Amino acid sequence: MNSYQVAVIPGDGIGVDVTRAAWQVLEHSAAKFDFSLGGEWFPWSCEYYLEHGEMMPQDGIAMLKRFDAVLLGAVGWPDKVPDNVSLHGLLLPIRKQFDLFANVRPHRLLAGVEGPLRKGDFDILCIRENTEGEYSGAGGRIHQGTPDEVAVETSIFTRRGVERILRYGFEMARQRSGRLASVTKSNAQKYTMVMWDEVTEEIAREYPDVTVNRYHIDAIAARMVMNPETLDVIVASNLFGDILTDLGAAIQGGLGYAASANLNPQPGVPSMFEPVHGSAPDIAGQGIANPIAAIWSAALMLEHLGERDAAAAILRAVETVTAQAGNGGGLKTEQITAAVIAAI
Ligand code: NAD
Ligand code: IPM
Ligand code: MN
Repeated sequence: MNSYQVAVIPGDGIGVDVTRAAWQVLEHSAAKFDFSLGGEWFPWSCEYYLEHGEMMPQDGIAMLKRFDAVLLGAVGWPDKVPDNVSLHGLLLPIRKQFDLFANVRPHRLLAGVEGPLRKGDFDILCIRENTEGEYSGAGGRIHQGTPDEVAVETSIFTRRGVERILRYGFEMARQRSGRLASVTKSNAQKYTMVMWDEVTEEIAREYPDVTVNRYHIDAIAARMVMNPETLDVIVASNLFGDILTDLGAAIQGGLGYAASANLNPQPGVPSMFEPVHGSAPDIAGQGIANPIAAIWSAALMLEHLGERDAAAAILRAVETVTAQAGNGGGLKTEQITAAVIAAI
């Protein structure tokens, strides 16, 4: 029997509720599909920070390294801990230190769910660079708090980083419709984004079967709303991908539906699976968070671990539920979770 060890980090706010939901679905799937799943829970969060002065222990990354995967809820509670402290103390180091360079975010209108667009179908795969670019963390502030203050934050794009994320995108495009959209802003940003465009052209020669279109970030944002059917696989830098995937989530019916996988295809480090959404302080503690994004992320984890049948069954079950419940208005987190488990 295959056996997997998962590090579970529920984090803050609704992260806790939706991770519990995802874990219940995982446990049920393991029993049904005959694999074994062990979970170790880590309380790393803003609460933990208030108690310990750090978001995770100094050797936190080393502790996670021995797991087959990390399942994460959401990190951040701005009233307690500044976001730049909490995110740079937990989520972003996991992505960077395990070199989880491909943040893969599927956006699809599930059966029965209505999005804000009048169009009926919406199905794109957004691939976001996840380790560098605008999130490199290179910069500083001098003369802080004075009128002479200077703040610098430099985007760093490496050829290696750009090549590998684009190549990943081309591979995904090959597996889907054969269409790839590469996103930049090379009309205004003339170094990093021009290099990205050049690398796109270079790699395109290795994939003559893939049709590539280049878009500027502003234009593709509009296109996602006006003509989403013309898009399939989208590859974007860290920040552009971040923004496009909240847009994608909105179009698929809301943040509660958007799943993500933070992948390093090399063996030896755990990949991380988490919903696109955050801790949602505005609805936390009410038991009304939509758990589908987290459940779908758990399915992505099983797919990554090789449990394809279980992953497919979870997604089928989710769609069985959404087909009946639509946007789930009025349903509690627990009710949706129980319905998904019943459908499996
Ligand atoms: P958010 O995603 O938490 O919430 C945005 C809006 O979407 C809110 O109105 C919220 O109620 C709604 N929403 C989100 N998830 C939902 C769900 N599952 N079901 C129903 N409604 C849902 O974004 P925010 O408010 O900008 O951020 C809150 C905190 O989370 C901040 O600290 C932020 O930095 C952090 N954050 C963390 C992650 C992460 O850990 N991956 C992602 C985004 C934001
Ligand atoms: C996401 C989140 C994070 C990001 C934040 C919380 C740092 O918005 O996963 O989309 O920007 O990557
Ligand atoms: Mn985001």
